[in-house]
This record gives sequence, structure tokens and C-alpha cells, in this order.
Amino acid sequence: MPASPARILITGASGQLGRLVVHALLQTIEPARIVAAVRDTAKAGDLAALGIEVRRADYTKPETLDAAFVGIDRLLLISSSEVGQRLPQHRNVIDAAKRAGVKLLAYTSLLHADSSPLGLAEEHRQTEAAIRASGLPFALLRNGWYSENYAASIPSALQHGAHIGSAAEGRIASAARADYAAAAAAVLSAESVSDSRIYELAGDDAYTLTQFAAEITKQSGRTVIYQDMPEAAFRTALTGAGLPEAIAQLLADSDAGAARGGLFDDSHQLSTLIGRPTTPLAATVAQALQN
Ligand SMILES: NC(=O)c1ccc[n+]([C@@H]2O[C@H](COP(=O)([O-])OP(=O)(O)OC[C@H]3O[C@@H](n4cnc5c(N)ncnc54)[C@H](OP(=O)(O)O)[C@@H]3O)[C@@H](O)[C@H]2O)c1
Repeated sequence: MPASPARILITGASGQLGRLVVHALLQTIEPARIVAAVRDTAKAGDLAALGIEVRRADYTKPETLDAAFVGIDRLLLISSSEVGQRLPQHRNVIDAAKRAGVKLLAYTSLLHADSSPLGLAEEHRQTEAAIRASGLPFALLRNGWYSENYAASIPSALQHGAHIGSAAEGRIASAARADYAAAAAAVLSAESVSDSRIYELAGDDAYTLTQFAAEITKQSGRTVIYQDMPEAAFRTALTGAGLPEAIAQLLADSDAGAARGGLFDDSHQLSTLIGRPTTPLAATVAQALQN
């Protein structure tokens, strides 16, 4: 008798990346093979309406994870958005995945997590170590920066005529969330799971923030320059603009890491995996300008 097709579960399925992974999976596999795991099922009515089973799974509540992972063959752990709390939360998921005997544990890590200068990398390094220690077959999806992260600051850049940051002339190989989602879907729905693998995922084209500002200028018809500043000054500017201290610190640290090459990669593993070029920065800027 042929083996029944693998059942795939996505954690954080109510988040922006999670939803995109579910929709990418739906392009090639039946809804009945997909389980959307969310901490608040009330947020996943749209996914249930697509014929997808929705299960409650809170990273902080191991009993919900055991119940959610029953019968699951392949599991995508989408890294928690609760920076600083991630390692214990991720450990709970890894331990429950091990108890459930999943045959593939995929995890959304950070580009070059093992050597990245970004402060954000530490929790990813620790999570990757816990995944290796679990002995489960794994896929480390080391995602680069989302282009949407920078695009979110376009309204403010237009207002001030400047995009501020501390990335200097660091080159940033970002890609759209949908590109990373397509990569996760490709790995999860592959015919068979081979050896554990690490994927360094980044955009095909890299740009500096000077080039980002020039792209905004070109598309909007309004002059926007890039104004570089020391990391501490950038952090102060972000808190001055109303961002919480922790977020300001994280963004300034990440920009400083970008100056040191932390968001650059030219291996083209993402476009190879998804079978198409990654979304150009210009397309994400155009999308942001329409909103
Ligand atoms: N590469 C990058 O540039 C970049 C940028 C931002 C974030 N990230 C990382 O990538 C992840 C996915 O990005 P995203 O844009 O989809 O972020 P997002 O929209 O904030 O989604 C995060 C997801 O994590 C879920 N979550 C948080 N705490 C949880 C818990 N205790 N139990 C279960 N689920 C929990 C959230 O659930 P709710 O829907 O209930 O809130 C949400 O579904 C982020 O969480 C972050 O780790 C990467």
C-alpha cells in the first residue's frame, strides 16, 4: 500500500509569513494535507474557510503543542515575534515535535545565523543548536531581510525627504515575504525529505540604502536622500519618532550589522529553490507607494 501523503503543519499561521506559506502550499497540495497552527483560532477563520484544519498551538503552552502536532509528518516552526522570549518558546515546539515524531522540522532562521553580526542572530543560533540536538531531520531556512521592512518606512521618508539609517554602504540582498514563503512551501511539500539541510535565502539583487532612497525618488517623483548616522544617533531618532526602545535598538543594531555585510548574500539559493527570480526591490517599493 502506498504511504499516505505527508501532513504538513505551519506554526504562527495567523502571522504575515505564515499565511503566505499556507497560500503557497495550496498551489500544489490539497487543503486536507495542511494544518494551520495558531495561538488564537479566532484569527484563522479565513484559513478554515479554505478547508484547512486549524489547531491551537501556543509556544508558551506545551500541552497545546502536543495536541496540535498529533499525526503531523512535517512541521514548519515560524520563529516567534516575541524577541527575547524566543529560545524557551522554540524549545517547547522542538520538544513537542520530537515527542510527536515528525519526519521533518523546518525553522525560519536568519541569514548566515552562524556568523551574522546582527544581535537578532543569537536566539536563532541557540534555536538551531536545539534543533540539531533534537536529532530530528531538519531544514534551516535562514531567511534574509524582508524588503517590506524598509518599505514600511517609505511614508516617513517621503514626509522628511530622507531615509535615515546606519547601514552606511552595506549591501542588502532582501526579498519579499512571499519569496521566503514560497521557499518554505517548496521545502515542506518536496516529494521526499533527504538529509538535513541549511538554506541561505536572500534576494537575487542587492542594494545600498542610498540606492533604496534613489528608487523612492524615481518612483514617487519626490526627492528622498539617504542620511547615514551612527548607530546610537539612529536609535535615538527612532525612539524620538515614537518607537519603543527595544524595537529602536533592534532596528539600529540590524542596520549597523548590514553595514558590516550581515544582510548580504549572493548565493541565489532562494531563486533556485522557488524556480523564479526573487521579487525586485522596485516592485516592493511600487507596492508600498500604492498603499
Ligand atoms: N527576516 C526578516 O526580515 C524578519 C522581519 C520580521 C520578523 N521576522 C521573523 O519572522 C517571523 C515571521 O515574520 P512575520 O512577518 O510573519 O511576523 P508576524 O506577522 O508578527 O507573525 C509572527 C507569528 O508568530 C506568532 N506567535 C508569536 N508568539 C507566539 C506564541 N507564543 N505562540 C504561538 N504563536 C506565536 C504570532 O501569532 P499571532 O498571530 O497570534 O500574533 C504570529 O502568527 C517573526 O515572528 C520573526 O521571528 C523576520
